Amino acid sequence: MAQEDTFKKLVAHCKEYGYVFPSSEIYDGLGAVYDYGQHGVELKNNIKRYWWESMTLLHDNIVGLDSAIFMHPSTWKASGHVDAFNDPLIDNKDSKKRYRADVLIEEHAAKYEEKAEKEIEKARERFGEHFDEALFRQTNPRVAAYIEKRDDLLSRLSDALNANDLAALRQLVIDNQIVCPVSGTCNWTEVRQFNLMFATEMGSTAEGSSKIYLRPETAQGIFVNFLNVQKSGRMKIPFGIAQIGKAFRNEIVARQFIFRVREFEQMEMQYFVPPGAGIEWFHRWRDLRLQWHLALGFAPSAYRLHDHDKLAHYADAATDIEFRFPFGFKEVEGIHSRTDFDLRRHQEFSGKKMQYFDPSLGVSYIPHVVETSIGVDRMFLQVISASYREEVVAAGDTRVLLALPPALAPVKLAVLPLVKKDGLPEKAGEITRRLRLDYPCHYDEKDSIGKRYRRQDAIGTPFCVTVDHLSLQENTVTIRYRDTMQQERVAIDRLPDIIDEKASLKTLLRLLPSL
Ligand code: GAP
Repeated sequence: MAQEDTFKKLVAHCKEYGYVFPSSEIYDGLGAVYDYGQHGVELKNNIKRYWWESMTLLHDNIVGLDSAIFMHPSTWKASGHVDAFNDPLIDNKDSKKRYRADVLIEEHAAKYEEKAEKEIEKARERFGEHFDEALFRQTNPRVAAYIEKRDDLLSRLSDALNANDLAALRQLVIDNQIVCPVSGTCNWTEVRQFNLMFATEMGSTAEGSSKIYLRPETAQGIFVNFLNVQKSGRMKIPFGIAQIGKAFRNEIVARQFIFRVREFEQMEMQYFVPPGAGIEWFHRWRDLRLQWHLALGFAPSAYRLHDHDKLAHYADAATDIEFRFPFGFKEVEGIHSRTDFDLRRHQEFSGKKMQYFDPSLGVSYIPHVVETSIGVDRMFLQVISASYREEVVAAGDTRVLLALPPALAPVKLAVLPLVKKDGLPEKAGEITRRLRLDYPCHYDEKDSIGKRYRRQDAIGTPFCVTVDHLSLQENTVTIRYRDTMQQERVAIDRLPDIIDEKASLKTLLRLLPSL
């Protein structure tokens, strides 16, 4: 099935099974804003807990923070967001549709890569198990030509962005004959800069009110509280501050479901280190964050690291962890070495010292910062798209499955009486009441057992526990495993151990290294 079709099915599945709904849908929705349903909110909470605990429980020197969304307007002057948090926009004069010029060019470059991948896939089928992909990439002239075209285009894009050369950006669109997906024409306006921050008014009267912004990143709340946390917690450098919270961006290219939205959540950690140590810590955090992703058990080949050519105004090194979404490899998380840019600027704009006295060196300095920044919504999309499967179970029989990492699954087990009589519902109710304070449980007695299994597969429940007549005599149940569909008879008393071993967050956290 084409990737596009799979993606459409995934979006429909998310709605049908209570994961994600379009915002204010009864009014036809609001562009690039989404709500999370009964299962979505649990999956989201589990992702956040996995991140939070991996930061704050596994590291003695990382503490949490919850700063306000509204911040003093000078914050955003100091951070550079008022002047530099822009996207280059271009309009198609025929369709009147607006695009990000850099995204149009990146998508064009990705098409060369797709063509190269297709050649590789064809060759893989032709040569079977003797296929040497690395050698083929090096020696096949068609693949080499596609990759060269892609690299050339991306390098020209990077030059134009670094030089802030909007005319050069437009020229790249024209030279490559990039057309508007709606009108199919190449009739483009000039490229203009557009600031992504949402502004609002604080205060009750027009004269007395002042313009403030909805924060476009959570990081600034950490920077302005750096000394509060350091002093009140008597923290010694190196140390980190972690925060999860909402961020807002007036995205122009808001497509691909919850990949790029206007209201989203970030999980950010700022790690404060001595001057000169930024790059070393940047590499350590990059490795650690990749381990965090890999521990979830999705194919390692679905991840790649992408070093930035164009660095944000605050960074001296940056890498993205990219994941292979149904629409290609895209950024899920950014790791940045932010130098002392932010603290220095806040010192400048506030007039307050942002320095740390280092007792081991006997000197004061403005610390440097390594940041790890990941979007909750994007991570959610990554998890759910990697988990969505349609499997042929038998001739003419398929099942839709969310093979979620068990520790993240919103419902851990379903308790199902085989029939609605003979005391089986009462026994199943007893088991549910015993387990539900430790694990989110579903109780379901409606429809055939086969239909109930399929319903739980579609929700992503890792275990179905079936209560039958033998359960009454022996205090045993059958446990059915979602991914293999295998069943096993086990004592009811063993259920907590089985679920803990396979589906607890602790099991996942134990796989992780710490610093
Ligand atoms: N503090 C650094 C920062 O905000 P970023 O690369 O702009 O860096 C970090 O954003 C992460 O936030 C991204 O990797 C992505 O996961 C998430 N993110 C950014 N914009 C987003 C949007 N419009 N919708 C969903 N997630 C977004």
